[in-house]
Amino acid sequence: MLPTSSTAPGKIILFGEHAVVYGQPAIAVPVTHVRAEARIEPTRGGDSARILAPGVGLDTRVEDLPLSHPLSVALRGTLSACGITEPLSDIPPFTLTIHSTIPVAGGMGSGAAVSVAVIRAFSTFLNHPLPDEQVNALAYEVEKLHHGTPSGIDNTVITYARPVYFVRGHPIETFTVPTPFTIVIADTGVPSSTAITVGNVRKGWQADPDRFNPWFERVGEVVRAARHAIESGAPLTLGPLMDENHALLQQMGVSSPELDRLVDAARGAGALGAKLSGGGGGGNMIALVEAECAEKVVEALRNAGAVRTIATEIYSSQSQIALL
Ligand code: MEV
Repeated sequence: MLPTSSTAPGKIILFGEHAVVYGQPAIAVPVTHVRAEARIEPTRGGDSARILAPGVGLDTRVEDLPLSHPLSVALRGTLSACGITEPLSDIPPFTLTIHSTIPVAGGMGSGAAVSVAVIRAFSTFLNHPLPDEQVNALAYEVEKLHHGTPSGIDNTVITYARPVYFVRGHPIETFTVPTPFTIVIADTGVPSSTAITVGNVRKGWQADPDRFNPWFERVGEVVRAARHAIESGAPLTLGPLMDENHALLQQMGVSSPELDRLVDAARGAGALGAKLSGGGGGGNMIALVEAECAEKVVEALRNAGAVRTIATEIYSSQSQIALL
């Protein structure tokens, strides 16, 4: 068995988070400036498989991980998807090393990116590289451990590494971006748990579906209008749609004072629109900017407390250029 490695990008949701869990469409794009990497090497003389993830202080034998641990589920799931029936402990010993530059608990898909990188690296290590469809399905199983009812958008955009228009349970739809546009991503620095915010929205919806259903439906209309604006080459008209999507997410209760402060700061500095992105409760927000205004918006976001900013151009291909 030969050493292998694989990387997977982060992601950002442009429109439709939370409502996507309830069957509405959402739009997400990969963010390639940040990545998770999984490297697997045979361990000479070792007697069992090891996992090292220095960024989160993990150094363990695979068999010491609980069976329900996301990495254990990813590795065992890969083994069985590759048609290998022997247990993980019978595979010749290897060391899996994970590095990631994707902020943890920030709404940028760090967990899904680690899963995709690990599944790809391990299946290649086993001489049985899996097709994207299977990688995506396995990563979705791991996502369920992170939060019980994921829509599947995170693992999908990260596996396919291109802009997606996602509807839960439907085949993946990618789309083109004929006129590239610039967004600034800013991190509140407040860790956020998607499991908690998704759970809170579910509780709210169960308690009062007549309040939540119209919000979800309106988000769906916003997402369809946003796709039309992007595909027809008019991305600068996305601003008011972002603002409306943020207002709907505020009503659902998933924004936070820190997110609202960054959203206001971006708008005040000339952004065309801004909203939280991902699970909310902390994590990241995004702002649509004209390219020449990006620097001013980045500065305003930093002054308003953003701990990290990325200005990036969104276009159809897989890779992006960091602008600032
Ligand atoms: C998390 O990135 C996006 C949410 O819509 C949850 C999901 O779709 O599974 C909040």
